[in-house]
Amino acid sequence: MDIALRPAELATRVTGLLAVGVHEGALRRGTPAAELDVASKGALKSLLGSGDFAGRAGETALLYPGGVKARRVLVVGLGPAGELSERAAFAAAATASRRARDAAAGTLALALPAATDSTMRAIGEGVVLGHHRHTAYLTSSKPPLTRSEVVVAHATASAKAALASGVTRGEAVSLARDLASTPGQDLPPAALAVRAREVAKRVGAKATVHDVAALERLGMGLVLAVGRGSPNPPCFIELVHEKKKAAKLPTVVVIGKGVTFDTGGVSLKPREGMSKMKYDMSGAAAVLGLFASLDTLSLPFRLVGLIPSAENVIGSRAIKPGDVMRAMDGTTVEMTNTDAEGRLLLADALVYARRFSPVAVVDLATLTGAISIALGRHAAGLFATDDALAAELRAAGEEAGERLWPMPVGPEYLAEMRGETADLVNSNERREGGSCTAAAFLMHFAKGLPWAHLDIASTAWTYVERPESSKGPNAFGVRLLVRWLEARAAARR
Ligand code: BES
Ligand code: MN
Ligand code: ZN
Repeated sequence: MDIALRPAELATRVTGLLAVGVHEGALRRGTPAAELDVASKGALKSLLGSGDFAGRAGETALLYPGGVKARRVLVVGLGPAGELSERAAFAAAATASRRARDAAAGTLALALPAATDSTMRAIGEGVVLGHHRHTAYLTSSKPPLTRSEVVVAHATASAKAALASGVTRGEAVSLARDLASTPGQDLPPAALAVRAREVAKRVGAKATVHDVAALERLGMGLVLAVGRGSPNPPCFIELVHEKKKAAKLPTVVVIGKGVTFDTGGVSLKPREGMSKMKYDMSGAAAVLGLFASLDTLSLPFRLVGLIPSAENVIGSRAIKPGDVMRAMDGTTVEMTNTDAEGRLLLADALVYARRFSPVAVVDLATLTGAISIALGRHAAGLFATDDALAAELRAAGEEAGERLWPMPVGPEYLAEMRGETADLVNSNERREGGSCTAAAFLMHFAKGLPWAHLDIASTAWTYVERPESSKGPNAFGVRLLVRWLEARAAARR
C-alpha cells in the first residue's frame, strides 16, 4: 500500500473515504475537523449537536456531506480533548483504515489533529494493520486500498520518515499474521526457514538453518523427537543481527515456538478446533515480525532470534508416550504426552541460548490451553525468573496494547515435573496449573539465564474483529517486543 503524507486541503481531497478525528467537547479551531465543518456548512457541528456522536474513543459516524469532494466522510472519536496520544492515534488510524476497506472505498485520506513524529509512526502502523486481512486463499475478496494519504498541515521530512517507519512496522506485523494464518500444508518447517531467511536478508541479519544432521550433531534430542513423526523434517532457525560486528555488544535472545502444525501426535488432540493449530508457530512468527521491524530500530546490542521448528503429527516413526529422549544439556525426558511438544522444542532452544551469555532471554509460545482458562483472552501469561525483565516487558505490553499478566513459576511447580523413569516428564497429566508446570519445565532449561516466558496461547488468535486486527492469528508479541527493545535501547543511551 502506498501511504503518502500530504498537506491539508480537506474539502477538495478526492478520495473514497475521508476520515477526520474529533476529540470530545467543542470543535477546536485550527483542527482538520473544524476546517471540514466550515467546508461542509456545519455538518460536524450538527453531528455533535445530534447527540449521536460525542468524540469518545472508538466512536465513529459516517457522513455524506455536501461541499466536499470525498465520497464519504468518517468521523472518528479521539477521546478526551488534549494532545493526541500514540495509542489514540493508532486506534483512530486503524479504525479509519478498516472502515475504508469494509466500504471498498479504494482510497483513504486521514486527517488527525497535529501529530508528533511518534504519533505519526503510530498512524502509519494503524493504517496498515486496520487494512490487513489474510486473503491469500480467497478467490474473491474486497479490493484492498490502492492509496492512503495522511493529511497534515506541514509534511516535514521527519514526519514523513516517522510515517514510513510506522508503515514498516505495520507490514512486519502483517507478515507475522500471514505466516501464522498459512495452513500447515503450505508452511512446514523448511518453508518457515525460507521465510526466515528472506526476512533476515532484508534487514541484514545472518540466518543459519540447522537441519536434521546438524540437530543430531548438536544433540537437540527434543527438537528431533517432536519432528520424528513427520515426513517434513524439523529444523532449528538461528538469526543474528548486529550493527557493528567489531564491537562486543551485549546479546538479547528471543525464542519463538515454531510448531507448524500441532495434531498432538499420538496423544491426538480432539477434533474440535484443531484447524486453529496452524497458528502454533505464532511465537516464531512474532520473532520474525520483530526481525522484519529492525530497520525501524537502532539497537545497541546484538539480537539473536531462535526458532525451533517441527510439525507434530502422527506417523509410524512418531514418538510414543513413554519414550525417553535426551535434551541438548543431557537432561532425560519421558514423553508422557506427545501433545506437550512446545516445551520440548523450547527446552533445546533455551540450552542453545546459553552459548551467547545473553543479558536477556524471552521466549514466546502458544504453549498451553490452560493459560486461556487462567486469563481469558485479554492477557498473555508472563513467567519470569528476572523481576526487572518482567517489569520491562509488562510496560512494553501496556504501551503496545498487548497485555501481559504475571503468573507464578518456581521450584514447587518444577517438582511436579520430576520423573520416575527419566529426569523429567513433559506432562504431569494433571490440569491444575497447567501453564505454570509448563513454564517450570522451561525454567529447568533456562537455569542461570535472565529469562521470561510469554504464554501467548490466550491472545494470539483474534475471535472478535477489532479495528487493528481481523479474526484469526494476530501476531501478538511483535509490537510488544519492538517497544521493549526500543525502551531498552533508550535506557542504554
Ligand atoms: N499448542 C498447544 C497449546 C494450545 C492449545 C494453544 C489451545 C492454543 C490453543 C500445546 O502444544 C498443547 O497441546 N498443550 C497441551 C499441554 C498438555 C498436553 C499438558 C494443552 O494445553 O492441552
Ligand atoms: Mn500440543
Ligand atoms: Zn503446540
